Amino acid sequence: MKVGILKEIKAEENRVSMTPAGVEVMRANGHDVVVEKAAGLGSGFSDEAYIAAGAKIIDTPAEIYADCEMIMHVKEPQPSEYDLVREGQIVFTYFHFAPDEPLTRAFIKNKSVAIAYETVEGPSGDLPLLTPMSEVAGRMSIQEGAKYLERYYGGRGLLMGGVTGVAPANVVVIGGGVVGTNAAHMACGLGAKVHLLDMNLDRLRYLSEIMPKNCFPMMSSPALLRELVMDADVVIGAILVAGAKAPKLVTRDMLKSMKKGSVIVDVAIDQGGCFETSIPTTHGDPVYEVEDVIHYCVANMPGAVPVTSTIALTNATLPYAVEIANKGWKQAAIENNAIKTGLNMVNGKVTYKGVAEAFDLEYVVVDNVL
Ligand SMILES: NC(=O)c1ccc[n+]([C@@H]2O[C@H](COP(=O)([O-])OP(=O)(O)OC[C@H]3O[C@@H](n4cnc5c(N)ncnc54)[C@H](O)[C@@H]3O)[C@@H](O)[C@H]2O)c1
Repeated sequence: MKVGILKEIKAEENRVSMTPAGVEVMRANGHDVVVEKAAGLGSGFSDEAYIAAGAKIIDTPAEIYADCEMIMHVKEPQPSEYDLVREGQIVFTYFHFAPDEPLTRAFIKNKSVAIAYETVEGPSGDLPLLTPMSEVAGRMSIQEGAKYLERYYGGRGLLMGGVTGVAPANVVVIGGGVVGTNAAHMACGLGAKVHLLDMNLDRLRYLSEIMPKNCFPMMSSPALLRELVMDADVVIGAILVAGAKAPKLVTRDMLKSMKKGSVIVDVAIDQGGCFETSIPTTHGDPVYEVEDVIHYCVANMPGAVPVTSTIALTNATLPYAVEIANKGWKQAAIENNAIKTGLNMVNGKVTYKGVAEAFDLEYVVVDNVL
């Protein structure tokens, strides 16, 4: 199969959908790979590195769309690409159709095969192509929290890990999933005192076994949160309620009880955020203050560390991409349920229920197109 790797054109996006190491694996499986000129530069991969791995460099996205059977992206195709996608062409990327009606209608019209990273589902209901980005955001949340605690950035002037004879910071992490566990690990590693809250008892039991001694996994409740937030230096929002907006767990009143110069990092901002006072921000202008508390609410945190994010993402996507290229999308979906769950649109039919429901479109059970 001929596989095309496009340069990302969405603002602030520096990741790329395949590394030169991935190209080498594709080539070893007998596939041709074409890469758009300069596609890897934002992630530290030169055109020469792709050529050395066996790829061909092409100047324009139009030539790649015209030439390839499978297109790979990181972000959803942008309006300038809608008419370039061909009938029957496989497009494998993060789509997030449900909040984007023009994108959804464009992919119904172009009759391609849209396989969405975000709905590829593992055997235990996990989302293997979202997990790496949650790991990045979780780890980064503590890095950002520690930075904004510094006086220069408006924070309390506190070193997260403390030093001999001086107490470390109190960190509260709300949500003990992928983001929360990664955040808690980082904060514990720096020496902070960490409270990690979740609603799921089985999850808390597991966390109690695996987390270090300076981490206290606890059952989340409004009363406990009120108490912990008052004493916190950094609070991380890391909850997810599948298919719903995040509930506002920390109210403005609770914020008033926090210390001046403390920091909140609302990682769940991409689902609306779990602090009443959260508003999405960007890497260019990441923080603002409410009630003397610094708010960091960047919706695409992994974008700040594209080298790490690209390698983490492509480690996860490459095996699926190879399987789709080896077998064709239909046989790959028949044999691998994870790929089947990734199918959102096939030949103008909406095969993912959440997308059909979002815009009141006809839903076709995916098995009917296989
Ligand atoms: N800002 C970014 O750049 C970025 C990047 C990656 C992920 N995210 C977001 O981070 C959030 C967390 O993602 P994840 O991968 O860790 O999800 P996850 O499903 O692995 O974990 C979510 C956890 O929240 C817990 N939870 C739900 N409601 C709760 C409540 N009321 N109190 C305490 N815990 C509660 C769940 O039990 C679960 O353990 C999501 O909203 C995700 O979209 C944002």
